[in-house]
Amino acid sequence: MSAPLVLAIETSCDETAVAILRGSGELLASEIASQVSIHQPFGGVVPEVASRNHLTQIRPLIERVLDQALVKIHNLSAFAATCGPGLATSLMIGMSAAKGLAVALQKPFLAINHIEGHLLSPFFGKEKIEPCVALVVSGGHTLLVEIESFGNYRLLGQTRDDAAGEAFDKVAKLLQLPYPGGPQIDRLARAGGDPRAFDFPRSMIGSGDFNFSFSGLKTAVRYMLPKILGDSENSSNGCLNDVCASFQEAVVDVLVRKTIAAAKMRGQRLVTVSGGVSCNTRLREKFKAACEENRLDLLIAEPKLCTDNAAMIAFVAAQKFSREEFSPLASEIDPNLRLAAVS
Ligand code: KG4
Ligand code: ZN
Repeated sequence: MSAPLVLAIETSCDETAVAILRGSGELLASEIASQVSIHQPFGGVVPEVASRNHLTQIRPLIERVLDQALVKIHNLSAFAATCGPGLATSLMIGMSAAKGLAVALQKPFLAINHIEGHLLSPFFGKEKIEPCVALVVSGGHTLLVEIESFGNYRLLGQTRDDAAGEAFDKVAKLLQLPYPGGPQIDRLARAGGDPRAFDFPRSMIGSGDFNFSFSGLKTAVRYMLPKILGDSENSSNGCLNDVCASFQEAVVDVLVRKTIAAAKMRGQRLVTVSGGVSCNTRLREKFKAACEENRLDLLIAEPKLCTDNAAMIAFVAAQKFSREEFSPLASEIDPNLRLAAVS
């Protein structure tokens, strides 16, 4: 039997994304229609605007990936979509499209958890999902998970307040940088920012558990604002770059320290990192150094698989397809969906 062809749709937030995957690792097409420039004037995602744009983008995007993959729609084996977590009005568009195609073509439908998409993205294209300690750091989520195998997850810890990406975006907004803030902070930090210039708090670094807290860090930056923004001479001299580098260092220090401690505590030799924030240059550097020092193997999702995309959704869908774990057509979206994990 030839390898299955899965078409997956991701519309959990502001990116409309569609991908076609053959088997579990041959990506035939993966397209993203980004809405960043549409939401930028509002300083964040406007749900109604996102939903309307998904609706206009989804059909041309599906047609484009079919053309690129040189696949006829009736030859697809299954249709998958992100069912949650995310914005209800955005999730609905992708789920309705995938269900509609599954019904029309009488093929299986697969509802996929967005967090599981990120969680397994470092294994994209690999033969096996290996046991590991996995850090997921995105705009909506920060969690540490122990993976035993596909579908067997243990939640080790998570954020008590803001997600790491949310902290990047909120701090960037305070600093009057455009949305989304993560890449802006990364860029300014790289432009000569001194990570030791400001001693921002490393909240919960010594808490002895694997939970995180980033809202205090945001408040610490807010207290520095008059100095940062008020003194134009300072900003042109790189004060802003120093704040970005110091803030980023504080976030990355906590993420690295807790992830390494979790791997040691659970006796895992492999660490994985995924989600939008794993694009961050300093995070990638510091994880590499820390894993080398502690003789741990490291897998970080490829940069194009870090931020929201449909390839990671197709990858999880392919795993489910091979196990015949299909979803009923009556499956609903769940904006607050959690990862199915034991704790
Ligand atoms: O995974 P993602 O696309 O969406 C969610 O599922 O939330 O992550 C988006 C988040 C945003 O908060 C964005 O600012 C952050 O990832 N991000 C970064 C970088 N690139 C994206 N944060 C820090 N440094 C980056 N280079
Ligand atoms: Zn995401």
